[in-house]
Amino acid sequence: DSKDVLNAHHGLDLSDPYCNVSEHIASRVGVNLHHRTNHPLCTIKELIHDYWNTTNSDNNNKFELIQNLHPVVSTNANFDLLRIPQDHVSRQKTDTYYLNPTTVLRCHTSAHQVDLLKQHKRQFLVTGDVYRRDEIDASHYPVFHQMEGVKLFDTSDNTEESIQADLQHGLEGMAKALFGADTPVRWVDAYFPFTHPSLELEVYYQDDWLEVLGCGVIHPDIIQNAGMDPSQTSGWAFGLGLERLAMVLFAIPDIRLFWSTDQRFHKQFQAGTINTFQPYSKYPPCLKDMSFWLAPDANAFCENDLSEVVREVAGDLVEQLTLIDSFVHPKTQRTSHCYRITYRSMDRSLTNQEIDALQEQVRTLTQDRLGVELR
Ligand code: PHE
Repeated sequence: DSKDVLNAHHGLDLSDPYCNVSEHIASRVGVNLHHRTNHPLCTIKELIHDYWNTTNSDNNNKFELIQNLHPVVSTNANFDLLRIPQDHVSRQKTDTYYLNPTTVLRCHTSAHQVDLLKQHKRQFLVTGDVYRRDEIDASHYPVFHQMEGVKLFDTSDNTEESIQADLQHGLEGMAKALFGADTPVRWVDAYFPFTHPSLELEVYYQDDWLEVLGCGVIHPDIIQNAGMDPSQTSGWAFGLGLERLAMVLFAIPDIRLFWSTDQRFHKQFQAGTINTFQPYSKYPPCLKDMSFWLAPDANAFCENDLSEVVREVAGDLVEQLTLIDSFVHPKTQRTSHCYRITYRSMDRSLTNQEIDALQEQVRTLTQDRLGVELR
């Protein structure tokens, strides 16, 4: 019956014709890696909480910690209330997971800003799992974790400049608390529809500038959308990705490791401690190439849709999807793509036979769903 269907999909209703959430993605809802005490993502979360509520706090200035909000939200909360334009790429079905035309898996924790402000919260940190259709490689996974920080101010005692200064001072302190007091930081101009001005913070770490977060002064329309008067109330917001930070700080080379059930991974980590991951021997990869002709309208092809097909068939066994060759046939003008899929398990060795079977399913589904012609 319908209840069984709901349970099989972890409480999500995937039956709407508009739905583009696969079971592989649905199975991640409720896993909540950020709640697991010794997990690196939880450690980073706790360190940031401690920074804002201990190091950088004067006791009557605490941030409320919010970490149990469900990832299913309305398109209104995820986009409209944040001034994300109707034609913005992030709204497309190639980029966001829709359950139906007006319900999505949140693609950022900013989706909760307006609602929490409506509840009269003035200072809070929200942590949660977020979902994005994306490419497949060592640093991209369709589910990751973000933390959002928000702080409001009365405009009677604060100007936009003083609010921005408070934001930058706080975030620089956070970066130094995580990466070390001597770590160089720099600010880069950015654009987000829900903040103005908007900035990105980068830290110089192991010979590279690393983008750590986006932030800015909350746009007056957002304050208004939350039922407040922007002439009286202003504030700042930031959003950061926990995997990005954890991969760098723990030297974790592949984002899939966060989801591993292998004790050789988990036994290395202890709550509250950042330590360098010691890689255990990797299982060998298995490479498969697939070539196809695009439909005459080559623009109809979107790589994220192919990523999704591969994820749906191979789940966490896929390590990378790379376009290795592309050309236009001189006579027919048709475009050919060749993609290489790298299969590798984090936890066991794969047999050629099982990968051949997966690859066959990938080929069939690619042909059926993407309107391409296999070569
Ligand atoms: N939501 C933005 C993102 O996911 C990050 C952000 C949060 C930027 C808050 C500014 C303010 O990229």
